[in-house]
Amino acid sequence: VALVASTRGEEAKKPATLDRLAALLQADLDCVNTLILERMQSPVALIPQLAGHIIAAGGKRLRPMLTLASARMCGYRGARHVALAAAVEFIHTATLLHDDVVDASDLRRGLATANAVWGNKSSVLVGDFLFSRAFQLMVEDGSLRVLGILSEASAVIAEGEVLQLVTSNDTATTEGAYLAVIEAKTAQLFAAASRLGAVITERPREEEEALAAFGRNLGIAFQLVDDMLDYSARQAELGKTVGDDFREGKITLPVVLALREAGEVERAFWRRTLEDLDQHEGDLAHAIELMTRHGTLRATLDCARRYADAARRALAVFRDGPEKRALDEAVDFCLARGH
Ligand code: IPE
Ligand code: IPE
Ligand code: MG
Ligand code: MG
Repeated sequence: VALVASTRGEEAKKPATLDRLAALLQADLDCVNTLILERMQSPVALIPQLAGHIIAAGGKRLRPMLTLASARMCGYRGARHVALAAAVEFIHTATLLHDDVVDASDLRRGLATANAVWGNKSSVLVGDFLFSRAFQLMVEDGSLRVLGILSEASAVIAEGEVLQLVTSNDTATTEGAYLAVIEAKTAQLFAAASRLGAVITERPREEEEALAAFGRNLGIAFQLVDDMLDYSARQAELGKTVGDDFREGKITLPVVLALREAGEVERAFWRRTLEDLDQHEGDLAHAIELMTRHGTLRATLDCARRYADAARRALAVFRDGPEKRALDEAVDFCLARGH
């Protein structure tokens, strides 16, 4: 709570939200949500049941809003951005279904995860279905360029999740290795979603790269904050179980930094809990205490702030306007968010 408050302190104004972005994009966003509901349908009842569960639970729709806003900021007047934004959200939703199986998570968007309700098998298979729906939408769009960008992002996300799997429970993980994982599993889709705006408007390469850099840096900041929140959030607001990363032995930046400061006793604690997964009551609280003592949650937020600044700078090539201002506020939201 104190951490979240401190991000706002410097400006002493009301906390940033996604409201401005959502209001600006409301009509487009309604179309995206309608399309998502339409395309999650199937005669196999379990598919709309399970997909409807996670989709109706909400979610911030941040990635599709990046596509919609970047398209509008580039002066787009057509309708392609709606289907592409829906494809982006389908890819995101598919990765969440798979991620919750891999992470053995039981809370998502404030509800029981699909794997907790229907089991791992159903979650994996419906995730595959939604992922395929995304590709159908892209094929209907008909641009090989777009297909190239989103298929590349999908491959990199999967690589990131596998890379994370093989580096988990290893207390020797470096900050660089951690950043490589989050850049792949999270920042790639942010970058692709943002880049699309310049692609469908055929803007110069410089603007396309600027939007990709914006998304990439925002995505890294977003995941850094997510990894901080895994130890510090109010669970009800976050809608996910606090402490999931610790229980699974995921080596995120708050842990990497705490290990850097650790003496022999603390190092033994981290090895027992995260490498051997030998955890007892009070261990999570002790982990949070060590992170607080060494200031590593705050340092993670500082790191996120640097990436957020880079995201904001990337927008410099675009003229000021309502979309740019809303994207700017979205950057602030990603730093101050508690959900
Ligand atoms: C969750 O993303 C996965 C991460 C990259 C941390 P979001 O926090 O954007 O999830 P929803 O869509 O709003 O639920
Ligand atoms: C995000 O990773 C998942 C993907 C980007 C595929 P996390 O495992 O940290 O996200 P949450 O905490 O479950 O939302
Ligand atoms: Mg997870
Ligand atoms: Mg997380």
